[in-house]
Amino acid sequence: MKHLVSVNQLDRKALLELCSLAGKMKKMLPDASRSIQPYKRVATLFYEPSTRTRLSFEAAAQNLGMDIISTENAMQFSSAAKGETLEDTIRVVGGYCDAIVIRHPETGAAEKAASVSTVPIINAGDGTGEHPTQALLDLFTIKSELKKIDGIKVALIGDLLNGRTVHSLVRILAHFKNVELYFISPSELSMPKNVLDQIKGVKFHILNSLDSILEIADVFYVTRIQKERFTDQSEYQKFAGIYCITAELLNKMKNNAIIMHPLPRVGEIDPIVDNDPRAAYFRQAENGLYMRMAILSYLLADS
Ligand code: NCD
Repeated sequence: MKHLVSVNQLDRKALLELCSLAGKMKKMLPDASRSIQPYKRVATLFYEPSTRTRLSFEAAAQNLGMDIISTENAMQFSSAAKGETLEDTIRVVGGYCDAIVIRHPETGAAEKAASVSTVPIINAGDGTGEHPTQALLDLFTIKSELKKIDGIKVALIGDLLNGRTVHSLVRILAHFKNVELYFISPSELSMPKNVLDQIKGVKFHILNSLDSILEIADVFYVTRIQKERFTDQSEYQKFAGIYCITAELLNKMKNNAIIMHPLPRVGEIDPIVDNDPRAAYFRQAENGLYMRMAILSYLLADS
């Protein structure tokens, strides 16, 4: 595998291998990992805002002994502002580094970049398309927290239409046995058909309220309503705040359930929930570091 553009490139074996590699990376820190990819360089090319994805990729690269070149506002500060095509930028940047991590507002941008790139392209989010590295760290988190993936019941809550993290995560979960999915969203923001078509063998339920699954789900994967994808902000206002995990809801959940969120949260989880051991979202964000170390070393292993 040269690029990581879509989770469709990964089978169950590769998914488990990456989880196990992420676990090894965690154990190798703080010192032993620094000699894994010395003298290699990664470029982070971000055309959309990011906190966790870019910084954890950069920290991951440093932990592997790599160098970093970065543009965190490529729309404004790269030659994109002068009208350069993405393909030309990739051809040029590829001459300066060994891998490119890219986030872009256009669905399919990572694929487009991969089609001309001489170095591995890692998709760090392409519009409403996919976010494969987030879904991998989500899988690693589920495995670390629940000690199993087969047979779990996962509720995905919020903006399932525009949220790229859930588009990647459900495709990944489809590789595991007897996983049951609950899609909870307003009908206007439901999981797109192209994603549903790809998870045909999986048992799923489409709901618009959390009530009936509070006592049965093992994972509550909460997402933000994706404000930046709405052309009409009054439409966004209609859905903002529609779901919120409160102490009252938490009381009804199983003792060993976990609450996840790719973050940033903007009101979907009451901060009072943070102190409960079932709140896994900050551990999940930390896992991004280990999984991104695993991804970089996996893709650069033979280069
Ligand atoms: C997500 C994204 O960018 O898709 N953030 C992240 O990478 N953790 C989720 C979001 O922005 O809502």
